[in-house]
Amino acid sequence: MSANAASLPRDLKPGTAAKLAFFSAIVWFCIGTIYGGLARIKMAYPDFLAGVPWLTFGVLRPSHVDTVILGWITMAFAAAIYYMTPALCNTRLWNEKLAVASIWLWNLGLVVMNATFAGGIMTGIKYHEWTWPIDMYIMFFIMVPLALNCWMTILHRKTKGIYISLWFFAACILMIAVVFVLGSDDMGWNGIASAYMTWWYAHNVLGLWITPVSAAIAYYTIPKVTGNPLYSHRIGHIHFWSIVGFYSTPGAHHLMAAPIPEWLKSFASVSGVLILIPALAFVTNVLLTMEGKWHLFVENPAIQWTLTGVLFAIPLNVQGAFQQTRAINWYIHGTNWIVAHAHMALLGFSTFVEVGAVYYALPRLLGKPLFSVALARWHYWMTAIGFMGFWTALTASGLIEAAAKATNWSFSGMLIAEHPYMVAAVLFGWMIVVGQWLFLYNMIRTATAPVTVPEGRKAVATAAAG
Ligand code: HEM
Ligand code: HEM
Repeated sequence: MSANAASLPRDLKPGTAAKLAFFSAIVWFCIGTIYGGLARIKMAYPDFLAGVPWLTFGVLRPSHVDTVILGWITMAFAAAIYYMTPALCNTRLWNEKLAVASIWLWNLGLVVMNATFAGGIMTGIKYHEWTWPIDMYIMFFIMVPLALNCWMTILHRKTKGIYISLWFFAACILMIAVVFVLGSDDMGWNGIASAYMTWWYAHNVLGLWITPVSAAIAYYTIPKVTGNPLYSHRIGHIHFWSIVGFYSTPGAHHLMAAPIPEWLKSFASVSGVLILIPALAFVTNVLLTMEGKWHLFVENPAIQWTLTGVLFAIPLNVQGAFQQTRAINWYIHGTNWIVAHAHMALLGFSTFVEVGAVYYALPRLLGKPLFSVALARWHYWMTAIGFMGFWTALTASGLIEAAAKATNWSFSGMLIAEHPYMVAAVLFGWMIVVGQWLFLYNMIRTATAPVTVPEGRKAVATAAAG
């Protein structure tokens, strides 16, 4: 054992932080989707909960979006990083205590953030509705501990090379920190620069954090469960460097209707097509890794979720490239088409990959088989069918809104025409919400189940359970 490993704190069991983070993430997933579900009802029935000031649409919307991004997706990323980094480095997490403290503080911060929103305290800046003290909190209690633990564990690794997922984890934490600081309104941006930086920030939260870290997780889960090595380490590198090079530039494709310079819009529109390079590299690399193991798609929940997410990345990126052309963007900007695309991204692609990681890692961390494979199937189908219905209803209503906008149709006529789709979005949306409570229940029962599997049989039992 090296001197460094000997000096590490030994009083917390390895995996404590990952377990806590996975459970916290699932709880925030349930809460975050309830906010979304209530907001969805308000869009179909505007008088629903009317008169409750802390449940207006203006409160529910940021509470939903920021809770699912910070509480679910990013917390699940932290859990995966705390689990996968030591596993890939063949060592312990650098500082388990620091990670556990950070997750508890993170949970507290999310409660405070949502309380400030309920009290109407927010910036009004999309994807950054929390106020500046919460910026500091995120920086020092969430990002710094995560960065230190990830980087120091990699530095202390007992393996020779650096697996592709680690490249992504380590680099994305650095990139998101830079994006977070430069894109913050605390930097004093104003006028059109402020609008541009708001979208430079939001675009890069998607492009340099959510998209690549989700991919890195799939690069771990798929080879682990299939037993196949990743199809190509080299394609993994093409993926990594093309994300860094091409995803960071077209932030302005979110501002095609804004009074920013025309050359910037054209640049964003053209350079945005290059995002298809990392997308193609990622999808082909994962699908080719599945060779000979496609039966696991129906047999193994971890693979089923992860692969569904990877497959959703195909329509997501095709849709993205298509909608950023200036002619198409003029038509669908500001409509539910975009909300459908956003959910294809963060729910269809990213969330499915993270849930796959939970089904893979949590039973292993707990040393117990999954409580119920049947419940996992219900969870999958409720989320998958719910999402497809939700996406279709939003896309259809987006097309109605776009047609109304283009033809100067009456606003009330448009609302009446899209009402059935808004009702469908409520029904399918709540199917997703309820599905996540089954997920939480299944994981709590897994954790509290009395039977522990003897060491030697752990891997066999968890593999059978998914
Ligand atoms: C992990 C799951 C989910 C994620 C990551 C997610 C993420 C998002 C994001 C990023 C937006 C902003 C989109 C935009 O403005 O273009 C959004 C808006 C919204 N989401 Fe979700 N969402 C999830 C699940 C749900 C569910 C299950 C429902 C409904 C039951 C829902 C209802 C809404 C509503 C009503 C909005 C506001 C749309 C608007 O302003 O027109 N979301 N969500
Ligand atoms: C080739 C790939 C992609 C391109 C070219 C693209 C393009 C776009 C464009 C142009 C918009 C803004 C449309 C508008 O408001 O008029 C948009 C919105 C959005 N995209 Fe993509 N996209 C791509 C892939 C992705 C991926 C991989 C993710 C995340 C995993 C993502 C997440 C989102 C979200 C959340 C929004 C909604 C932003 C908002 O709140 O307005 N996109 N995308």
